[in-house]
Amino acid sequence: MRTYVCAQCHVEYFLADRQETVALPWARGLRADSILAYYDSTGHVDWLHATSLAPVLKAQHPDYELYTQGAHAHAGVTCSDCHMPHRRAHGRDVADHRTPDPLADVDHACRACHDASAKSLQDRVAGIQTATLELRTTALDALLSLIADIELARGTDSGRVTLRAARDFQRRAQFLLDFVESDRSLGFHAPQESARLLANSINFSRLGQTVIRGEGRPPIVDGAPPRPRRRMEVQGGSGLKRASLWGDGGGGW
Ligand code: HEC
Ligand code: HEC
Ligand code: HEC
Repeated sequence: MRTYVCAQCHVEYFLADRQETVALPWARGLRADSILAYYDSTGHVDWLHATSLAPVLKAQHPDYELYTQGAHAHAGVTCSDCHMPHRRAHGRDVADHRTPDPLADVDHACRACHDASAKSLQDRVAGIQTATLELRTTALDALLSLIADIELARGTDSGRVTLRAARDFQRRAQFLLDFVESDRSLGFHAPQESARLLANSINFSRLGQTVIRGEGRPPIVDGAPPRPRRRMEVQGGSGLKRASLWGDGGGGW
């Protein structure tokens, strides 16, 4: 309960029933790949990318889902243990309801369990966050390269299949990257899982570029990419435009 109380909100979700019900995409599991597979199976698309027209997703705040993949969750440590640490006040033991930054209060947030100096604990977090930031930046660069390639390919007579596959790779790369970025701990909640997702994201972006250049064989990906039927709004760039998923003048998606 000390975790589920936070997981009421700090999760990935989407709106179902004509945007009236908050729903959780967990039918296939809590990992980012499982959530992506679920969205692919239902054809869910949050928005069309303005320049590539890829049918992409927006991760919300999957702090809970990523946390479940980390060592602390496996050891039964809850969100509240770190974010609502216990302290003495007015002669009583209370949980801090201000959710202070754990790193600013390592004595209460971490040292109740870890017999290490505050500095060494802060250094370990910094090490994890620096490594995650480096991988995240590389993933972002790779994604931007893929988007630029798709944009260029739209101006040429690349086949529909190639563009469609490249856009599917963008959807995958972007969601995994966004999942890690939208967990707010910069990798700390689940360091190895965050690194795995970012590595897969980089791979998807580079595979997408390979496909566009005709150097790779057609991708083998799980599940069919989504095929939304309705018209969607394209966001970004010079504002909102309307575009049909089936005819963008550049060979469809
Ligand atoms: C009812 C929804 C809801 C629940 C339940 C909830 N949060 Fe939040 N939380 C939010 C929202 C919304 C924000 C962003 C607030 C803002 O940007 O001002 C937030 C922000 C935070 C932040 C960012 C820093 C801060 O203090 O603003 C932390 C840390 C946090 N929540 C931890 C937790 C923990 C731990 C729990 C469980 C004990 C929890 N939250 C339960 C909705 C919720
Ligand atoms: C083992 C300790 C630990 C556990 C367990 C933990 N967190 Fe965190 N969390 C941290 C640390 C450390 C940070 C990074 C703080 C920083 O960078 O300043 C963080 C960052 C966050 C942030 C961003 C805070 C901000 O100021 O922007 C949110 C929100 C958050 N955690 C929510 C959760 C939720 C929800 C859970 C449970 C599902 C959870 N955390 C479990 C230690 C923990
Ligand atoms: C309620 C007890 C508890 C609290 C509070 C706690 N930890 Fe942990 N921590 C553990 C346990 C248990 C493990 C896992 C040991 C194992 O699996 O070998 C762990 C593992 C770790 C690891 C290694 C695994 C990893 O994910 O990299 C680091 C680093 C760590 N903790 C740092 C912190 C920091 C920093 C805080 C405070 C923000 C904190 N811990 C708060 C109990 C706790």
